[in-house]
Amino acid sequence: VDLSDALRTTGAIREFRPDPVPDDVLWRVLDAARFSPSGANSQGWRVVVVQDPEKRRALRDLYLPGWYEYLAIRAGGMRPWSPVNDRDAEARVAAGAQGVRDAAAEGPGGFAEHLDSAPVVLALFVELGVVAAVDRDFERYSFAGGASVYPFAWNVLLAGRDEGLGGVITTMCIREEPAVKALLGAPDEYALAAVLVLGYPVHQPRKLTRAPVESFTTVDSLDGPAFLAP
Ligand SMILES: Cc1cc2nc3c(=O)[nH]c(=O)nc-3n(C[C@H](O)[C@H](O)[C@H](O)COP(=O)(O)O)c2cc1C
Repeated sequence: VDLSDALRTTGAIREFRPDPVPDDVLWRVLDAARFSPSGANSQGWRVVVVQDPEKRRALRDLYLPGWYEYLAIRAGGMRPWSPVNDRDAEARVAAGAQGVRDAAAEGPGGFAEHLDSAPVVLALFVELGVVAAVDRDFERYSFAGGASVYPFAWNVLLAGRDEGLGGVITTMCIREEPAVKALLGAPDEYALAAVLVLGYPVHQPRKLTRAPVESFTTVDSLDGPAFLAP
């Protein structure tokens, strides 16, 4: 695939063929992703390739509470974990997570319940000591530091695409960050940025659902005129 096609069609893949991903393929993916940008070229990313079956199951078990909470909050009509959510209202709808978990236990399970059997599971950490979080002292929620690690996460997916792989960036496990850090030996000064899951896709999406340019781009001011196609 050429770059433009890759950008337009690299969707989230959560269903994988059983074929293992050879280590040399994964190594090439990481070798390409390391050229990602980061603030001051700090390259604070650290990747743990989670191979041990017990650790994989533990990671799945740390993913699931967030997943059921996410589904419950969404079912309650709220945007899960938006930094501007009313926390009390969110907690009320999140209480439905146990019901979601019970209902899920009746079924065959999906991506979340079978996370441990994905071909590749990568825990992506970032070293906080090298991240430039330029908005760290603001009253509002700070997120600029993430910009020094998420381009890397995305490049893992793009580089994977070049190798015929698909995958998804997941963040549910961050809800259980202390336990994930203990599980994978991450020191205090590291934060969990994502768990990346990769494998050979069952289906490759052709068309992604995304809003058009003029719906999110304006001229000179956020409430300025839409930037239209020439
Ligand atoms: C920061 C971030 C966090 C995400 N977290 C999760 C997650 O925890 N679990 C999951 O299944 N997908 C997760 N996704 C994948 C999104 O759901 C997906 O990118 C989005 O729905 C678009 O899907 P599409 O590319 O297939 O259209 C995450 C994506 C991003 C960028």
